[in-house]
Amino acid sequence: MGLKADSLNDPGDLPHLKNLPHTRNSENQEEVKMARKVFIFDTTLRDGEQVPGASLNAAEKMEIARQLAKLNVDVIEAGNPISSLEDFESVSSIAQEIKGPVICALARCIEADVDRAAEAVKDCEKPMVHVYIGVSGIHMKGQLRKTPEEVMKMAVSSVQQAKSMCHEVEFSPMDSARADRGYLYEVIEATIEAGATVINIPDTVGYAIPEQFGQLIRDIRQNVPNIGVGARHAVPVRLSVHCHDDLGMATSNSLAAVKAGATQIECCINGMGERAGNTALEEVVMAIKTRGDYLDAYTDIRTQELISTSRLVSRLTGFPVPPNKAIVGTNAFAHSSGVHQDGVLKERTTYEIMNPQDVGVQASEIILTARSGRHALQHRLSELGYELSGDQLDRTYERFLNVADKKKQVFDEDLAAIVEDELPSVPQTFSLDYIQVSSGTRFVPTATIGLRKGDEVIQEAAYGDGPVDAAYKAIDKITGVKVELADYSLNAATKGKDAMGEVLVRIRDDGRTIIGRGASTDIIEASAKAYVNAINKMLHGK
Ligand code: KIV
Ligand code: ZN
Repeated sequence: MGLKADSLNDPGDLPHLKNLPHTRNSENQEEVKMARKVFIFDTTLRDGEQVPGASLNAAEKMEIARQLAKLNVDVIEAGNPISSLEDFESVSSIAQEIKGPVICALARCIEADVDRAAEAVKDCEKPMVHVYIGVSGIHMKGQLRKTPEEVMKMAVSSVQQAKSMCHEVEFSPMDSARADRGYLYEVIEATIEAGATVINIPDTVGYAIPEQFGQLIRDIRQNVPNIGVGARHAVPVRLSVHCHDDLGMATSNSLAAVKAGATQIECCINGMGERAGNTALEEVVMAIKTRGDYLDAYTDIRTQELISTSRLVSRLTGFPVPPNKAIVGTNAFAHSSGVHQDGVLKERTTYEIMNPQDVGVQASEIILTARSGRHALQHRLSELGYELSGDQLDRTYERFLNVADKKKQVFDEDLAAIVEDELPSVPQTFSLDYIQVSSGTRFVPTATIGLRKGDEVIQEAAYGDGPVDAAYKAIDKITGVKVELADYSLNAATKGKDAMGEVLVRIRDDGRTIIGRGASTDIIEASAKAYVNAINKMLHGK
């Protein structure tokens, strides 16, 4: 039986759907293929990466960009090129390598910023420059110290400048949700006239309420004369929204905007971003897929890639996904109460509105144990999105056997932890060869560590406040590097006392935060690996 549009929806919205083509979704429910596509603009590498402590190196950004292309996002906002040479180079290499999505670079309405952004994406198959300026009274007076006329001039001339170097130009009147309406309409009209192809309406501080934000989009469509077909454009300007989650309404606000006619959502994987974050990509995409009947829209996202993308971003940024997080949390499709389990076993849709496989939850028929062969491992890794062969597969298999000897069954989360551990994103100046610790309630904790550097193994011993502290002091003696440890956290990759422990450390170096990860069934070994991983990244970045 299908989701019957007329039993679920506002009747006023329905008649126009009746003549549209019908398809079937994975629930075998009748689904209407909507006429209106919503573009997905991912800003994980820009707004998401602005979060303190989420710093990613160039190789990690490239890995995320490749996965975003696999997810089939329409636009990747790759960074803010004026902010640092590192960011410029990272945007530029993503622009050169990634095919498929548009690659976008951010710029303030300042000549040097716009030049730098356009330069960074100049070799891209589909480049875009995104310029922004605050347009609310609070932003213009309090931060920019400019009159509305001056801001208008800056916006128009930056869009013109960007347009002279790049066809696709997005303009964001920042803090639109708190701006004077009349002024906002004028800025939008003038920037479309200046050449903007996308107008993005940001709720920069997460202030809006869904009904109100939807009305703002309707009002813009009604009151900006060239928003339908821009004076300079053969195709209508794309109307985008960019919502922050300060009041927990970013997803609702974005969907209200879509219902009101917006055709692009800016969002981040796992809802990362400034303060409380941005709209979560996985939430809006699955809401549109599941309730496309109501929202009158669809996206081109390959939803089966959502879980792998979420896990990748979480691992590389060091920001864990809460178990109850919608769509991508480990509990999102777990049923614990007896009544729910009974219902799902009899008929899955009683308590599941989405098919877990549609977001990439893979039910494996192969149980991986110490008796599993290399081929079974390679097959499962490939299902999880890791394509390994040759030396990488050999190393991962050896590690897998090691873990499998200690555990009855090796789960997907264990495999992800092993692979991440075995595939470092930077050269291994040092690697852990062995570790020996002694500790107890009556002893001073001591650690003896052997680190491999080239062909040599260097050994040192130290004591500390605990076994991890002792190990880190011994490592410091070997590397000779001064490390400021900013954060240490330990998580179990799976359930049970034989679970793999995943350690994440953040170290500081010259104002940069560097993340190190390590995994093992032995948490002291995982701690030492994470620390050595962070030091290798620090040395590589120098
Ligand atoms: O939140 C915001 O307003 C932004 C703009 C740069 C679009 O991130
Ligand atoms: Zn933002």
